[in-house]
Amino acid sequence: MTAHLVLVGMMGVGKTTVGRIVAARLGQQLVDSDAVIQAATGRTVREIFEHDGEAAFRALERDALREALERKEPSVIVAAGGVVLDPDNRAALRESNARVVWLVGNVPTLVDRVGRADHRPLLDGDPAATLTRMADEREALYREVADAIVSVEHRSAAEVAVAVLR
Ligand code: S3P
Repeated sequence: MTAHLVLVGMMGVGKTTVGRIVAARLGQQLVDSDAVIQAATGRTVREIFEHDGEAAFRALERDALREALERKEPSVIVAAGGVVLDPDNRAALRESNARVVWLVGNVPTLVDRVGRADHRPLLDGDPAATLTRMADEREALYREVADAIVSVEHRSAAEVAVAVLR
């Protein structure tokens, strides 16, 4: 099986930005699970959540992760924040020989960075409260799949990318 590099972590931690830098350094393709879903369905993450519900989105997310992990060419895979919620996804990550890096940031850092992103309908209400709750609920799940943990605190995206590559 191919040794992909998978970035996991909370919304706003910088997975996509860091993933782009890492993919460019490695000369590999970047596969972003949200982007794969949007390309496959022709709809935005928000539209899928609003019309079909979160469960439908999570099913698409599961397929997108499977397809990404099955790619023949080693790739940099950006797994959206909620990928770890599904036990099957966690098993797929552990069982693949992909290297999984968990990007970690404090909640205030995440809140600063999320902005009003259209692909994050779950943050529509009170982003700080939601991110605090999610970080609590998900910490053990990210830890379960991570081969390495990289903090994004006090580091630029380029510095985080160097730490990931290390
Ligand atoms: C989600 C994260 C988002 C997106 C959706 C749900 C989550 O992706 O998939 O809004 O549950 O953490 P990013 O992690 O790329 O922001």
